[in-house]
Amino acid sequence: MLYKSLIRPYLFGKDPELSHEAVLHLLAANEWLYGTLEDFFKVEDPRLTVKIGPLRFANPVGLAGGFDKNVTAPKMISAFGFGFMEVGAITAQAQPGNPKPRLYRLPEDDALINRLGFNNEGAEALAIKLDRLRARGGRPKIPLGMNIGRTKIVATKDAVADFLSCFEKLFPHGDFFTLNVSSPNTPNLRDLQEKSLLRELLSAVQQKNLQLAARAHIDAKAVFVKIAPDMEFGQVDEIIEVVDEVKLTGIVATNATAFHRDGLKSANGPEPGGLSGRPITALVTKFISHIYRNTRGRLPIIGVGGIFDGYDAYEKIKAGADAVQIYTGWIFEGPGAVKRINKGLLRLLERDGLKHISEAVGRDVRD
Ligand SMILES: Cc1cc2nc3c(=O)[nH]c(=O)nc-3n(C[C@H](O)[C@H](O)[C@H](O)COP(=O)(O)O)c2cc1C
Repeated sequence: MLYKSLIRPYLFGKDPELSHEAVLHLLAANEWLYGTLEDFFKVEDPRLTVKIGPLRFANPVGLAGGFDKNVTAPKMISAFGFGFMEVGAITAQAQPGNPKPRLYRLPEDDALINRLGFNNEGAEALAIKLDRLRARGGRPKIPLGMNIGRTKIVATKDAVADFLSCFEKLFPHGDFFTLNVSSPNTPNLRDLQEKSLLRELLSAVQQKNLQLAARAHIDAKAVFVKIAPDMEFGQVDEIIEVVDEVKLTGIVATNATAFHRDGLKSANGPEPGGLSGRPITALVTKFISHIYRNTRGRLPIIGVGGIFDGYDAYEKIKAGADAVQIYTGWIFEGPGAVKRINKGLLRLLERDGLKHISEAVGRDVRD
C-alpha cells in the first residue's frame, strides 16, 4: 500500500506537529481535487445510514475532535469518505496551547501521545472563518460538529460562562456540538465531569441552545458531552443521570487516557499527555458497553478510541455505539482507512446476516 510504504515513512520522519500542519495546508490548497477524492473514497450504501436525534449520517464513521483545530481544511477532509466530522477543539479565547514539543508518535504501539492543550485561534476568529467558508461553498456537505473546550486561563467557577460564549459564537455553524470536558491537557478541565458542575454546565448550554434556536426559528442543535476513559463506572453513571436530566443528545466515549500506560513498547511511552490509538481500543469498548447497558440503549453513543479497521468499528458498534469516530487510526492507516472501515462493516453485516448497521448496535451487550 502506497501510504504505508512511502507516504507514512516520509511523514513519520518529520516532526509530528509540523507534518500534521503541512498536510492540512496541502489539503486546503488543493480544493480543486475535492470531487475526485470524494468520488473515490465515498461508500454509499443504504445499510450504513445513521440517525442520531436530528442528525443523519450517510455512514457511521466520523472524524474525531482535534484533527482540524482551526478549521483549515474541513471540506477536503470530508472528501475522504467520512459520514460526519468535528472541528476544534475551539475555546472562547484564542490561545497558544502548551510549549512544544507536545505531540509524540508511538510507532511500535500504533499510538500517539498529545498534550497540545487546546491551541486554537479562538471562537470569534473561527466563526468568521466559518462564515467565509459558507459564503464560498467551502463548508463540508456532511454534518459538521463544533468541539468546544474551556479557555485555559479561565477558572472552573467561570467555566460555564466561557463555554456559553464559545457556544453562542459558533451556534450558527455547527450541525452538532461536542462539549469537551475530558481533555487531559487543560488543568482542572476534568473537574467539570463532576456531577453538580456538569449539571450546571450542561443545563446552561441546553438553555442557551433552546433560546438561540427559538430566536433563529430553527430546531435546537444536537449536543453531546465527551467523557474521559479515566474514571470509575460509578462516575459514568452520574454523568448519564445528568445527560438524561438535561436531555442532551448523547455521549461521545471517549477522549484519550491520561493514566493508562501499561505495556507500551515505544520510547515515547512515558511522555505526559493523552494516549490514543491501539492501546485504548479495549478500554474504550468497555466504557461504551457500560453506557449502553446502563441506559438499555436509550442514549445515543458515539464511540471513539483505537479504531483502525472495520472489525474495530464493528466491535464498538456491537458494544452499543450508534456511530464511531477515528483520529489516531487515520494517521496510522492513511487516507483509505474510512473507505476500508465502511467496506469492512458491510462485510461483517453480511457475515452476521444483518440488514442494517442499526441492527448491530449493542448486539454484544443485549441479553
Ligand atoms: C493530537 C490529538 C489532538 C486531539 N485533540 C482533541 C481535541 O481538541 N478535542 C477532543 O475532544 N479530542 C481531542 N483528541 C482526542 C480524539 O478526538 C479521540 O477522542 C482520542 O484520540 C481517541 O481516539 P483515537 O484512538 O481514534 O485517536 C485529540 C487526539 C489527538 C491524538
